[in-house]
Amino acid sequence: MTIGVFDSGIGGLTVLEELLRRLPRHDYLYMADTLHVPYGTKPKDDVRRFILSTVDTMINEGIDALVVACNTATSIAVAELRELYSLPIVGMEPAVKPAVEMNRATGKRVLVFATPLTLQQPKYYALVSRVDEGGIVDSLPLPELVEYCEGLQFDKEVMGEYFREKLARYDLDNYGIVVLGCTHYPFYTDILRQVLPPHIQIVNGNAGTVKRLSALLSRYGIAEGRGSGDVRFMCTSGDPSYVDKMQIALEFVQESYRKNEETL
Ligand code: SIN
Repeated sequence: MTIGVFDSGIGGLTVLEELLRRLPRHDYLYMADTLHVPYGTKPKDDVRRFILSTVDTMINEGIDALVVACNTATSIAVAELRELYSLPIVGMEPAVKPAVEMNRATGKRVLVFATPLTLQQPKYYALVSRVDEGGIVDSLPLPELVEYCEGLQFDKEVMGEYFREKLARYDLDNYGIVVLGCTHYPFYTDILRQVLPPHIQIVNGNAGTVKRLSALLSRYGIAEGRGSGDVRFMCTSGDPSYVDKMQIALEFVQESYRKNEETL
């Protein structure tokens, strides 16, 4: 049983890390659409075409379930993918609902980081209007961040300055939670931790997606895995150096999870 994990680039590896930890008895095919990354700053119709073609390739490779490990792709095409294919499909949802619930007691605001395309979609508006009764959610597009991440720009000074500039107009005392609404962004959790005041929690939707997948696999009667957590990496450009990059980036995410777990 192979679970396909799809993203525009390396961002979905932050979801794959969670999948490997929680569902280690399945095997995985990780696919990055390197011909078209980043998605979040491109026109919606183009992105829709890229998604349908890349997922079609994955289906032809023989996957049994699909994780759309990209917030932008989820908001553009997850409903259409479910109509096209009968296999279990889960996507990403910015963790706005849990963030609003967690903040209820403190009276603080929630700030959602995501790509411009994600924030423009009806799916995002619908989510916020459903869960944000008190009007406490603000949204901040970060159009450059996926490209920084794909370029492996993790310099603390450079990226710290980038976030400080983006956040300059916000009074951070008023905020209790930052939601990372793009799967590339958790690569910057440690840097953000240095930039944000200590009272602000940083959350992402990865655990929620893995939980939803787990429940869906049970419903389809295929929860019982017989694999061993093997991962095959593919990318639409077929570039072998990008496959090396994905392996290194996955180790980076796994190592930072282990480090953060030790300090909890
Ligand atoms: C992108 O490729 O710009 C977006 C990735 C995401 O939204 O998770």
